[in-house]
Amino acid sequence: MMSARHSASAPAKVILFGEHFVVYGNPSILAAINRRITVTVRAMEESKIVIKSDIGVSGEYSGSKFMELQGGRAARPMLDPLHSAVENVLATSGKKFGIRIDMRSQVPHSVGLGSSAAACVATVAAVDSLFRKHDRQWVCERAVEAERLIHKDSSGADCYVSAYGGMTLYRREEGFRRIKAGGPLWIVIGNTGVRHSTGDLVSTVRKFKEANGSLFRDLSKQASDICKGALAAILSDRREVLGRRMSENQALLRQIGVSHKEADRLIETCLNAGALGAKITGAGGGGAVIALAATKWESAKIAKRIRASGKESIEAELDFKGLVV
Ligand code: PMV
Repeated sequence: MMSARHSASAPAKVILFGEHFVVYGNPSILAAINRRITVTVRAMEESKIVIKSDIGVSGEYSGSKFMELQGGRAARPMLDPLHSAVENVLATSGKKFGIRIDMRSQVPHSVGLGSSAAACVATVAAVDSLFRKHDRQWVCERAVEAERLIHKDSSGADCYVSAYGGMTLYRREEGFRRIKAGGPLWIVIGNTGVRHSTGDLVSTVRKFKEANGSLFRDLSKQASDICKGALAAILSDRREVLGRRMSENQALLRQIGVSHKEADRLIETCLNAGALGAKITGAGGGGAVIALAATKWESAKIAKRIRASGKESIEAELDFKGLVV
């Protein structure tokens, strides 16, 4: 029996462009950020899986029986993907023993910053490292399977960017393409504190699409053009253009019903503080917003204004390491 502790960490992410429309084949642009989830695992004789965390949820699985240790009814839905990730890796290893997991997070959860994807990536990699060390692609595929327990239509983009780091263009038909920005990007994150369910918001959009077929096609086309324009602006380091594209993207997200009055208010705060553009990031319905700043100094100013409005802010830097085992 191995008793050593093994750790892995993976970064959170922001969706710069294209969330929701990406589910229907549109392009999207994502970036890993310097906030991580670290998972430490230990093998145990007893064949149960114990998951403890510092985000207020913990639980214990014996076979299919779940015992909540912390977090009430919220615990199981949040821990099930991690449990499934562990079982999946154990099954491929052919080994039978228990696992204890300790998760430490620097990422606010359920606000669109990809905390569940980062947790799944780090969990798969940490458990896998007890036996061998598969490559990022393998880890990413297992993490996406676990993530699909949360929302079955997941594009898998969150897990990819968490596993590989950096900035990525993703489109369902074409897969992932790494992007090398023409210059630094100063992104400020504001947290409305309103948690969302990605699955519920994805179904809100599906219903909107079913009820408004031709309007949705038109909005998708606009979202696609915005994303292409944004890519060109990122590559050529034209920040003012990029900011405008962000605000245009937000107008579309508002139209499909995934913005939120707290998010709109926070976006207004960012724009009034001098942001070049701002939008929700991820599924919306509250969650986090991102704002593009012209300089590092401007980003500190925007972050300060967000805090003055009573909300949490993060001056994010891009992460280029991705998964670290
Ligand atoms: O789970 P979140 O909030 O990071 O949002 C996921 C992004 C969506 O485009 C809404 C869904 C997806 O699978 O891409």
